[in-house]
Amino acid sequence: MKGELEKLEQEAMAALRGVRDAQELRRIRAQYVGRKGAVTRLLRKISTLPAAERPQAGKLANDVKIRLETVFKSALKRIEQERERPQAGLDVTLPGRPFERGTFHPITLTLEAISDIFLRLGFAIAEGPDVELDYYNFEALNIPRHHPARDMHDTFYISDNVVLRTHTSPIQIRVMEKQSPPVRIIAPGKVYRVDYDISHTPMFHQVEGLMVDRQISFGDLKGILTTLMHQLFDEKTRLRFRPSFFPFTEPSAEVDIECVMCRGKGCRVCAHTGWLEIVGAGMVHPAVFEMVGYDTDRYTGFAFGLGIERIAMLKYGIDDIRRFYENDIRFLRQF
Ligand code: DAH
Repeated sequence: MKGELEKLEQEAMAALRGVRDAQELRRIRAQYVGRKGAVTRLLRKISTLPAAERPQAGKLANDVKIRLETVFKSALKRIEQERERPQAGLDVTLPGRPFERGTFHPITLTLEAISDIFLRLGFAIAEGPDVELDYYNFEALNIPRHHPARDMHDTFYISDNVVLRTHTSPIQIRVMEKQSPPVRIIAPGKVYRVDYDISHTPMFHQVEGLMVDRQISFGDLKGILTTLMHQLFDEKTRLRFRPSFFPFTEPSAEVDIECVMCRGKGCRVCAHTGWLEIVGAGMVHPAVFEMVGYDTDRYTGFAFGLGIERIAMLKYGIDDIRRFYENDIRFLRQF
């Protein structure tokens, strides 16, 4: 009897040591000291022992039972306290770990600023494909095959008549094919040219503009571009229109803004001229209207193409265009 009791006590203690939850603990308790438990059963057997042995055995069994009950109780207490206490190593008074938030790319910010201005002026936003047919990129814009103007473009060819668009001007054609005048759209997007140095990347962004209606004049073009630059930079920014050539406009102009870095005094950014070229523009060439079936006696229009990287560089004081596309997180975090 003595040996059996000792063995049961040891067993019960060992089982208790690993216990982590209260349900498991109660199960073990019932197994040993419950009404049908092993220790209880031994206690009942005492009456069958010879009378001389009963007191000693009774005392022994009772002691075991009491010791086990005590250990069960303290184990239950420990488990309950553990459940209430925050997990070890978790200090709820510490400030939380901040998670990193992204920022918008400066080109995205610039595109959005420009789009906002034009939306307020009543322009709609149009889109076209980056992989473009030669027809839309050149042909319909009055740049036939073997025209010297094609040399200006350093085109990525996909196949004989499919290219990566070299400018956003093909979107003009796509819009006019679908819609009759009046037209008032801008078309922001990526464009591609075989070029890479301090002021050129093989992919860059333009915003195309097109306005067609009765009696649209060069004055409207000047008014819209002046408003754009005044809102993008400030009201003091002066514009300069120089005669130029594009096959799809006549007359054509290149538009400069007064250098926003030196206010026209001349500095490194403007190559000491005081001016920065940022827009190609002009009155839509009648040959282009004919390609899309617009009546050239009724309608006139202006168009322009804006270089976005150039504007973002001026807006944020960035001196190398390649910064935009190196994905240097230290650069990108600043916007
Ligand atoms: N597409 C021309 C370029 O990328 C820019 C341009 C010039 C667009 C005159 C126009 C325009 O719409 O009228 O060089």
